[in-house]
Amino acid sequence: MKVIVGVSGGIAAYKAAELVRALQRQALDVQVVMTAAAQRFITPLTFASLTGHRVITGLWTEPEGGGNEGVAAEPGGFRSAIDHIEEAGSAKALVVAPATANLLAKFAVGIADDFLTTLYLATTAPVIVAPAMNVNMWEHPATRANLEVLQSRGVKIVPPEKGYLACGMTGSGRLAEPAAIVQAVLAQLQMRNDLAGEVVLVTAGGTREAIDPVRYLGNRSSGKMGYAIAEAARQRGARVILVTAPTSLRPPAGCEVAPVVSTAEMRDAVMSRLHEATIVIKAAAVADYRPRIPADQKLKRSGPLTLEFEPTEDILSEVALRRRPEMLVIGFAAETQDPLAHARGKLSRKGADAIVVNDVSRPGTGFDSDRNAVTFLTANTAIELPEMTKKELAERILDEVLALRRPASLVAESGLVSSRAEEPE
Ligand code: PMT
Repeated sequence: MKVIVGVSGGIAAYKAAELVRALQRQALDVQVVMTAAAQRFITPLTFASLTGHRVITGLWTEPEGGGNEGVAAEPGGFRSAIDHIEEAGSAKALVVAPATANLLAKFAVGIADDFLTTLYLATTAPVIVAPAMNVNMWEHPATRANLEVLQSRGVKIVPPEKGYLACGMTGSGRLAEPAAIVQAVLAQLQMRNDLAGEVVLVTAGGTREAIDPVRYLGNRSSGKMGYAIAEAARQRGARVILVTAPTSLRPPAGCEVAPVVSTAEMRDAVMSRLHEATIVIKAAAVADYRPRIPADQKLKRSGPLTLEFEPTEDILSEVALRRRPEMLVIGFAAETQDPLAHARGKLSRKGADAIVVNDVSRPGTGFDSDRNAVTFLTANTAIELPEMTKKELAERILDEVLALRRPASLVAESGLVSSRAEEPE
């Protein structure tokens, strides 16, 4: 989920770097926008390095310069304000910290003379402003009136704190702590925190088994499903360990990432972190076989080739065997025929609490698609989760995983049971 952090020109601008980090720890993807005055206090490069995105510094971002030197140019080179406003439109919130008296005044009267003020008028996302200024400016009737206007238009104000100010005076005007600003952002985003206290270990992507130094046996997993689950779990307050086979995706912010290549590496990474996990979700597509002895050198073409395979470690079964009593173990199953029957077999053989069943023969879903449709299968229930985006599905899967934690009586009381198709014994 993307949020925009707008930085205006006050001494507290350097504290925005800490805010960016705190937002990233909530798995939020942060894009920074700076006013010209802000760039006098802190460089765009600081924020570009923290976020991995070029900072938007003006209405007309030049292909070189703009203080982003050293950060890879975005594809397309020159970007116009319209491009940026469109892109910013996908952000779920605009957070301005610090917001100067000047910026509050511009927001209040609708002056749009730079990118940040233009974006404020253009965005339909929630706006949160954290003012910081000299105490007299903060208490000035003009500032109070501007704040009232903004509040009446639904802008969330995170008031400054009292303390010693950079101008040498003591009083209100010091930028609120990052934690308070983050809390306001999360409240505006209405993010659920129902996985707080859980440690969710997610595996994602497709493992690769070496045939020789240049070739491998792989599969079509893109990692999208596993990454979506990791991101959603992080956003719902869990600590997330993401054990990932190679993918072309950027890991979701705030997750602890353990990159692996082969099934054996994935097994070791999972087992070494298992003692921390309270929920394990195995979305990775894992090789069932690997070449028994990979060739030392690149195999040369010379007639038919026979390779001998051996079974790999069954990670899911081992996890289920070594689970602590409170741990939930969720597997996935990618099936091309009779999905439920095969998945039911896997559920009991592997000892998981639930199996998320994909029919990967269904067009437009499953491997590498942005959409998926699954059945969440437990020993007693088979819950159909119809086709939706993998991000939406990740939320629904986590809802079902959490429902496994609740006593059956509570599930029945909440009416959730009515949406479940009970499986015959
Ligand atoms: O990555 P995407 O492109 O978004 O695609 C998503 C997906 C289709 C890969 C994913 O949703 C999925 O179905 N993952 C499981 C694929 C798979 O390996 O299924 P399986 O039926 O072969 O394995 C069953 C379960 O055992 C899986 O949880 C798997 O992680 C686990 N397993 C399998 C083999 C093995 N040696 N060790 C394991 O732990």
